[in-house]
Amino acid sequence: MLHYLILVFVWLTMVMATKRCPPQCSCYDSADLVDCRARGLTHVPHGIPHGSWLLDLSWNEIPELRSRSFTGVWALKVLLLSNCGIKAMQSNALTSLSYLEKLDLSHNEMQLLPPDFSEGLGSLKDLRMANNSLGHLEASAFRGLESLQRLDLSHNCIQVLEPGMLQALSSLRYLNLRWNLLEEVRVGTLTMQQGLAVLLLDHNNVTRIDAEAFAPLRSLTLLSLQGNRLFSVTFKTFLSLQTPGTHLQLSANPWLCDCELHRVFAKILRVRRLHVDDYRNITCQAPPPLAGASLAYMDSQLCAAETATVLVISVTVIVTVVFAIVMAERNRKKRKSLRNQGKNWAEQESLDGQDR
Ligand SMILES: *[C@@H]1O[C@H](CO)[C@@H](O)[C@H](O)[C@H]1NC(C)=O
Ligand SMILES: *[C@@H]1O[C@H](CO)[C@@H](O)[C@H](O)[C@H]1NC(C)=O
Ligand SMILES: *[C@@H]1O[C@H](CO)[C@@H](O)[C@H](O)[C@H]1NC(C)=O
Repeated sequence: MLHYLILVFVWLTMVMATKRCPPQCSCYDSADLVDCRARGLTHVPHGIPHGSWLLDLSWNEIPELRSRSFTGVWALKVLLLSNCGIKAMQSNALTSLSYLEKLDLSHNEMQLLPPDFSEGLGSLKDLRMANNSLGHLEASAFRGLESLQRLDLSHNCIQVLEPGMLQALSSLRYLNLRWNLLEEVRVGTLTMQQGLAVLLLDHNNVTRIDAEAFAPLRSLTLLSLQGNRLFSVTFKTFLSLQTPGTHLQLSANPWLCDCELHRVFAKILRVRRLHVDDYRNITCQAPPPLAGASLAYMDSQLCAAETATVLVISVTVIVTVVFAIVMAERNRKKRKSLRNQGKNWAEQESLDGQDR
């Protein structure tokens, strides 16, 4: 009987301990949800109930996420850490959160991610890191995120996507890289993203897109490239998108409006599965006389100069050929008449000789 009572007592204290709430926070639904939002915290509080699945720590002032900050709370599914002034994250800061599905780290001051950032985050589906100062990302930073479906890296300073950086993200459906400093989209960057539906690359510094860069994408419905520094593109870049229907957004680029660009767009517009959403808003920046003009309005006039050149060349060639034929004919006639004249003289001479 005593044994039994002791057991019950031990069990009760354990339950009480698990359901205890950190004094600075509020807990709901028998401590499933822990709300520590905007409590002036400077570190992750101790004593968060083990069974909690949502922890909101946003709007605090936590400059550094220490190693193993969340070891006790292994059941966590949602972790909100936005607006915390996080500048650095130690190695293994998030390890042990193997059930975590959503992680919000947006609006912090991170410049780097530890190389093992994603280790143990195999269940993560939604990762938000918008509005940080991320520059260079290690190729290994996202290696553990095989379940990730949404990745938001918008409003950072990313200049280069390392080949292989997105290799592990084969479940990715949504990739937001708006407002970064990307200069190129290289072949080999998006190799495993067959399921990617939305790719936002607008407001970067892209001048060059490899013709095969988008070829692995099989499900893309939206590709935004507005506000970059594209002045020309190849038709092949977009033709390689083997998707039932893709919406393209291409305005606010410094387009060089020449006959070539007109032809590329004319071909894109003819492909049924490609839709240029903002074609009417695409304006030229060069050549200078066309600056600000709408590409749709200029349209086939862009090839007018070229047509005129072709016409001039053709006419010149025809005239030259005709002239050559006429000259040849005249020469032939001249030679014939000369020959006849010569013959006449010869005949005349022989007649004269006979007369003598
Ligand atoms: C990031 O900041 C920009 C500009 O302040 C804002 O428009 C945008 O909504 C922010 N993004 C997120 C995901 O909070
Ligand atoms: C954009 O890229 C060019 C080089 O291609 C560079 O000179 C320029 O500084 C970049 N712009 C920004 C805002 O980083
Ligand atoms: C075109 O530009 C106008 C004015 O800037 C804007 O209101 C409109 O939403 C744009 N349309 C598209 C499809 O981007």
